[in-house]
Amino acid sequence: MKVALIIGSIRTGRQSHKIAYYVENILHMRNIETAVIDLLKQPLPVYGALLGSGSEENIKPHAERLSEADAIILITPEYHGSFSGVLKNTLDHFWSEFQKKPIGVIGTSMGKLGGINASTQLQHVILSLGAYPLPVKLLVPEIHLLFDESFNTQNENMIKLTSRFLDEFLWFAEAVYQKKLLKESNKPSLTSITTALNISLNTPTKKKIL
Ligand SMILES: Cc1cc2nc3c(=O)[nH]c(=O)nc-3n(C[C@H](O)[C@H](O)[C@H](O)COP(=O)(O)O)c2cc1C
Repeated sequence: MKVALIIGSIRTGRQSHKIAYYVENILHMRNIETAVIDLLKQPLPVYGALLGSGSEENIKPHAERLSEADAIILITPEYHGSFSGVLKNTLDHFWSEFQKKPIGVIGTSMGKLGGINASTQLQHVILSLGAYPLPVKLLVPEIHLLFDESFNTQNENMIKLTSRFLDEFLWFAEAVYQKKLLKESNKPSLTSITTALNISLNTPTKKKIL
């Protein structure tokens, strides 16, 4: 199973990437493959802007990362009581890449509420992507106090909350992943179809002699 993480924060001095890379490390420890879409490192053009405005080359690789993912985590800062514009711009670039995928939300803030408005609004948007929002979200208040330069934290509460969030997320993601695998394995093979129809692929069709 593969999980993509989208970091919805690109400003100089940003904090939200810290929880993203912390979560990525924990996913690796749980033997989950990851792909991080860090929009500071690989930005996207403003959706619908004239081609040639820059960063178009990043659209395809991001689309591939999202397509290959079985589940997705969105990390958003709280900006003016909502999620970030850069994250919404990213969501608008893609459509089929999100379909029928479980999506977890992590909200961040420097204040005490941990991006509660941003994350709740984002869960609503996930419905319009044709995806499944995880009911549980991870809120990260006072994020600027929590992580060291290696994106580790000693904060016991954050360690516990992150672990619980990932338990819920991976339970949901695994359930949908298994369902997809089951559907794949139930697809009839060409051999079983020909056997059922009692025809051989190697036998040329006999011409009817009148
Ligand atoms: C444009 C802007 C608007 C913000 N609005 C809010 C807000 O409404 N509520 C809040 O708790 N924090 C707000 N913040 C603080 C961010 O939540 C804080 O910077 C936090 O570290 C997450 O964002 P970051 O990844 O950009 O650092 C705002 C920050 C910016 C840059």
